[in-house]
Amino acid sequence: MSEKIRVLIGEEEVDAKIREIAAKISRDYSGREVHLICVLKGGVFFTCELAKRITVPVSLDFMSVSSYGDDTKSSGVVKIVKDLDQPLEGKDVLIVEDIIDSGRTLSYLIDVLKGRNPNSIRLCTLLDKPERRVRDVKVDYCCFEIPDEFVVGYGLDYAQKYRNLPFIGVVNLED
Ligand code: IMP
Ligand code: MG
Repeated sequence: MSEKIRVLIGEEEVDAKIREIAAKISRDYSGREVHLICVLKGGVFFTCELAKRITVPVSLDFMSVSSYGDDTKSSGVVKIVKDLDQPLEGKDVLIVEDIIDSGRTLSYLIDVLKGRNPNSIRLCTLLDKPERRVRDVKVDYCCFEIPDEFVVGYGLDYAQKYRNLPFIGVVNLED
């Protein structure tokens, strides 16, 4: 079995949208600092591109989570595999994710991080699959809403491959 990748959102379109969202974030956080929390591994490419375009002071921290349960059905309880290095007390936190699917991971993560007393907490995602949502999650910044298709590239993987593609593609399985 091999895979073919079809381009869904091209490189230039992704880059232009990230600049637009970064400009909006810079306006919204004017006069403040924004503390970006990158959700590893998928969020890393998006976080870097976004952070480079934000014009207010930025600090960065990283977190890695994995979902309990099998691949197709996450239980909604996430295990923190790598926790943040710094406390969130008094910070204006912006979580940066690759994709919101069922919303289970983010809804759990936001609850955990809210308990650490940040001044504010918002969510920014590269992609959103609203059709798949089972848990209500408020998305403050979203680059693209996409249909219910499995996508790769720009940090997103299929069996750990394709994260480095500079565009968003759809995986087609073929014999
Ligand atoms: P959920 O919102 O808790 O269901 O989980 C979201 C996570 O599932 C994302 O952070 C991705 O790691 C993964 N995921 C969901 N949809 C896709 C996809 O289309 N391609 C690659 N990973 C995906
Ligand atoms: Mg992810």
